Amino acid sequence: MSGSDLLDRRLVVVTGKGGVGKSTVSAALAVLAARRGKRVLVAEVDARERVAPMLGGRPTGPVVRPVLPGISTVNVDPRHALEEYALLVVKVRALYQAVFENRVVRFFLRAVPSLAETLMLGKILHEARSEDRGRPRWDLVVVDAPATGHALQLLGVPRALLDTVPGGPLRRDAEWMQALLSDPARTSVALVALPEEMPVTETAELDARLRDDLRLPRGPVFLNAMPEARFTVSDIARLRDLSGSPPPLGPAARAGLLQAEQRERADEQADRLRSLLGRPLLPLPLVASDRWGRRSVERIADAMDGAI
Ligand SMILES: Nc1ncnc2c1ncn2[C@@H]1O[C@H](COP(=O)(O)OP(=O)(O)OP(=O)(O)O)[C@@H](O)[C@H]1O
Ligand SMILES: [Mg+2]
Repeated sequence: MSGSDLLDRRLVVVTGKGGVGKSTVSAALAVLAARRGKRVLVAEVDARERVAPMLGGRPTGPVVRPVLPGISTVNVDPRHALEEYALLVVKVRALYQAVFENRVVRFFLRAVPSLAETLMLGKILHEARSEDRGRPRWDLVVVDAPATGHALQLLGVPRALLDTVPGGPLRRDAEWMQALLSDPARTSVALVALPEEMPVTETAELDARLRDDLRLPRGPVFLNAMPEARFTVSDIARLRDLSGSPPPLGPAARAGLLQAEQRERADEQADRLRSLLGRPLLPLPLVASDRWGRRSVERIADAMDGAI
């Protein structure tokens, strides 16, 4: 899948193991989409907010706020989502038959184990399909989803609802949510991994669950923080020869060798992930930075732009 295909979706969900760079990739996708003239919302899910601060803004909180031209952010939290949902139900109740709605809501509260996930996903997907005067409010909604297990729980909500709720407005909600999530023309689930043993293993498992259990449209796999390939094979042989030399040559050669070995190990893990997944990876560079912020994210966005 090419990058423009990806950014032409209405909804891109970004997930992966904890700490692999999901928020970074979400922010970089938003930056790239905004460069291409799109209006983007990045939704974090009940997170210690990272995206707006990475882009140079203040934490957004639960109400959508612009952070850069073309980019808005929100941190969807369950309490706020519940309040919004309750208001919505009250409105619906006034319009339709109060008794019926009450019964459904009570049933829902009893029957659905992941209430918080349901409300948060509902809010995000609602943003993804909402319109202002006949025009989509957002060209793209990027979901900075939680890590593996929690993401599967979140993305599995509509299917779980369809299995438990026999009818009524909640079932209709679950139907449109599942239709949007499972439509490859509108939705793509992107994975982020690091070129390390555990993240590679977990990414392959997550990919299989998305394919076999949730059957959601799988998008690109970003292999984040790939060390640069600085040296050729003959460079490395030369560094080895020089590594015993007196300073400054010897220590510099040994530092070069360390970097080359780091890249070699990353390449091994990249090969492993590629063969476990059976599809190509999109490498993103390891960016040296004292303060992880907008410049680092811009560099990741540059790499995405060039690589896809
Ligand atoms: N390409 C990269 N090069 C160097 N450092 C990186 C890179 N990507 C991410 N990092 C570092 O890793 C940290 C974690 O990244 P990020 O917050 O995007 O991960 P995450 O997967 O969203 O984490 P969490 O699971 O906690 O939400 C960043 O603050 C940054 O310091
Ligand atoms: Mg994060």
